[in-house]
Amino acid sequence: MSLRVMVLAAGRGTRMRSDLPKVLYAIAGRPLLAWVLDAVAGVSPDETLVVVGHGADRVTEVLPAGVRAVVQEPQLGTGHAAMTALAAMGEVAGDTVLVVPGDTPLLRPETLRALVEALPGVAAALLTTRMPDPAGYGRVRREGGRVVGIVEDRDATPELRAIDEVAVSTYAFEGTALAAALGGLARDNDQGEYYLTDAIGLLAASGPVRGVPVADPAEVQGVNSHAQLAEVAAEVRRRINAAWMAAGVWMLDPGRVYLDATVSLEAGARLYPEVHLEGSSTVAAEAEVGPQVFAVDSTIGPGARVWYAVLRGAEVGEGAQVGPFASLRPGTRLAAGSKVGTFVETKNTTLGEEAKAPHLSYLGDATIGARSNIGAGSITCNYDGYQKHQTTIGEEVFIGSDTMLVAPLTIGDRAVTGAGSVITNDVEEGALAVERNEQRDIPGYSQRRANRHAARETED
Ligand code: UD1
Ligand code: CA
Repeated sequence: MSLRVMVLAAGRGTRMRSDLPKVLYAIAGRPLLAWVLDAVAGVSPDETLVVVGHGADRVTEVLPAGVRAVVQEPQLGTGHAAMTALAAMGEVAGDTVLVVPGDTPLLRPETLRALVEALPGVAAALLTTRMPDPAGYGRVRREGGRVVGIVEDRDATPELRAIDEVAVSTYAFEGTALAAALGGLARDNDQGEYYLTDAIGLLAASGPVRGVPVADPAEVQGVNSHAQLAEVAAEVRRRINAAWMAAGVWMLDPGRVYLDATVSLEAGARLYPEVHLEGSSTVAAEAEVGPQVFAVDSTIGPGARVWYAVLRGAEVGEGAQVGPFASLRPGTRLAAGSKVGTFVETKNTTLGEEAKAPHLSYLGDATIGARSNIGAGSITCNYDGYQKHQTTIGEEVFIGSDTMLVAPLTIGDRAVTGAGSVITNDVEEGALAVERNEQRDIPGYSQRRANRHAARETED
């Protein structure tokens, strides 16, 4: 006897009103479907099939190894999706076939396990729950307590619509019984589709079918609209943040911290509001992040301070400071104790230990040695309109304010550049490079200018 799973994910998700297949919408950085497949993997099935259709290629791309896609074309309803998967499974007599919708990301493996364990002795078992607002869900019909069928919301009479026990598209079937029931499905409903829900009514007519209640309706909340996606994402966020706080992370306001499931944090990390950490980002102990930080695939070292900043593919070393108002683009590496301050942008740039660029700079394709200081307004002119060029600055260099560093350029250790200089040639170690005209003073200019202005006023 094997445990086989079919995940239904071929629908177009009409209520999302978008071309992106519904199951690919991200929750905490991972597609909806990935969350469902995690729960499925938790019951260690012998086989997992995903029924794909709308956006089949894109959905197939996100499937983990060992999970097979089966294409349903055209998509004639959930019953038809199950027929398509069953045909791909081959012989299933005596096996347990678990059916799971691709759009319920909060489902837990424990619940799927309970469903599988309810099957022996009956042809089918199904998850049910009581929804405060059951609109849109199939209602579970019972007679004398026994499940006798499911009626879809759109096909239900007002009396049936009043039932608050709903079916949530999650079933366990004995293989032969499923095959027989699918063979009996018709399309005589409001949408002209094959409804998998009708399989329950057909099987209940010849033997008992078991309902397995789920206490918390949130667990089986489907994502059919953007509003439901936002609700489910908020719940996932609550769980992720609660887990990190339990692991020793400080959050001033966990309702305003947005962490991908793929991010990792050390105990003692401190997160202020409006922090978004995505992809492979990490934050080490005693680092302070936020308010207002958006970081993708970036690492923030121990004791670093990052606020009001955007980081993409950046490494912030131990005790380094970033912001407020800094943009760290891919290839940025800040060594321990370095600083990228206010209105500074970096790209493909390394700052050595304790090197500083405190104000108003663009540093692209540059290497800056330890303890060097980049004065306010200084810029690497790394692009000549055709190619990017490298700037190499040694250790303990003092770049005066508003220096234009025209790359390719090498500046030796302990060199100095005069404020306002346009540096086009390499500067040797310890030298001062200054490039600007001599200052000219014109005595009495201000008074003469005021007199000229007063004379014009009298003429008018
Ligand atoms: C379905 C159930 C309903 C249940 C509800 C919530 C039916 C007829 N209705 O309605 O009783 O209360 O789920 O769980 O089953 N899909 C396919 N191929 C298709 C159509 C759908 O693979 O041809 C997939 C969808 O991608 C989705 C799942 O099946 O993941 C459910 O389809 P959906 O359209 O969301 O059904 P509901 O209207 O929510
Ligand atoms: Ca649904």
